[in-house]
Amino acid sequence: MSTKDALLASVSEPVVSSGNKISVVGIGQVGMACAFSILTQNVSTDLALVDCVAEKLQGELLDLQHGSCFTKNAKIQASTDYSVTSGSRLCIVTAGARQREGESRLNLVQRNTDILKFIIPQLVEHSPNTILLIVSNPVDILTYVAWKISGLPKHRVFGSGTNLDSARFRFLMSQRLGVAPTSCHGWIIGEHGDSSVAVWSGINIAGVNLRKINPAIGTEDDPEEWSKVHRQVIDSAYEIIKLKGYTSWAIGLSVAALASSIISNSRKIHAVSVSVKGRHGIEDDVYLSLPAALGEDGISDIVNQSLTDEELERLHKSARIMQEVQENLQF
Ligand SMILES: NC(=O)c1ccc[n+]([C@@H]2O[C@H](COP(=O)([O-])OP(=O)(O)OC[C@H]3O[C@@H](n4cnc5c(N)ncnc54)[C@H](O)[C@@H]3O)[C@@H](O)[C@H]2O)c1
Repeated sequence: MSTKDALLASVSEPVVSSGNKISVVGIGQVGMACAFSILTQNVSTDLALVDCVAEKLQGELLDLQHGSCFTKNAKIQASTDYSVTSGSRLCIVTAGARQREGESRLNLVQRNTDILKFIIPQLVEHSPNTILLIVSNPVDILTYVAWKISGLPKHRVFGSGTNLDSARFRFLMSQRLGVAPTSCHGWIIGEHGDSSVAVWSGINIAGVNLRKINPAIGTEDDPEEWSKVHRQVIDSAYEIIKLKGYTSWAIGLSVAALASSIISNSRKIHAVSVSVKGRHGIEDDVYLSLPAALGEDGISDIVNQSLTDEELERLHKSARIMQEVQENLQF
């Protein structure tokens, strides 16, 4: 009799899947930051990692597993074979090329579309009921591509979008006002990129609209130059990439927050990349970020924000940019 059998009298079959399984495809800087945040924040007890580089996968697997004494002993698997993702509630895609110094997100588009063509069908084959969360850039275009390739309903495919941009905005707001970022309410919508839209008309603390206090907020006439905060948000990734080569921790934390809302069916509202056709007068079949409630079936509701004419115009501009890029895509 083995030591295990002598020590432990088994009274049930091992659980095959816990129902909160999350797969992360692409274990580079972003994928590992997502995996680490998911594990340390106890979002899932069942994590699968996939990449095309087997040795790196094995190394990251061992390194995470050796931390099990300090987390909740989640089941962690890793493989180049997509069968490891089988039965996932949520699949997070971070695989692909990242921006080089000074390169825009939109420039990555065809390279990462080709990678998605390979990844998405395999994820859906092994988890037909999964929700897909796209993180790879340019995230809005790739979310559209993933939706098209997957054949899944729109509410089960979304992108991390401007969830990170909004968090960066709230952090910078908090620096100016000296209150916690979670108490600073400001939304960045539209493209996760250069044409993102700051919703200055709704920026508030405890329901006090800052535009009522400073009617010029966000405009060129503003003596306090709040528009610089949005400029800083847009420049954030460029700045961090120039300084350390990639961005990782904040995107990892923000993706874990999205995953948590899905797994716990919280209906929390996040700025994420969703199909915007028919919303705010947009006719193009494109994905852009809007505030949306996340639950166990993906996107449950999209908030109808009251936008000013200027904000609408900027959002429409984001949509046109997405449409132009999509027209030239091969997939
Ligand atoms: N949406 C956001 O807010 C946000 C933020 C930061 C980075 N990103 C994007 O995330 C992506 C990843 O960035 P990174 O810094 O982790 O890059 P990285 O180069 O560190 O990692 C990419 C990983 O993808 C893997 N990969 C490549 N092709 C693959 C394939 N066909 N199948 C499986 N794995 C594959 C690579 O082996 C590598 O491990 C980039 O597109 C980047 O622009 C998005």
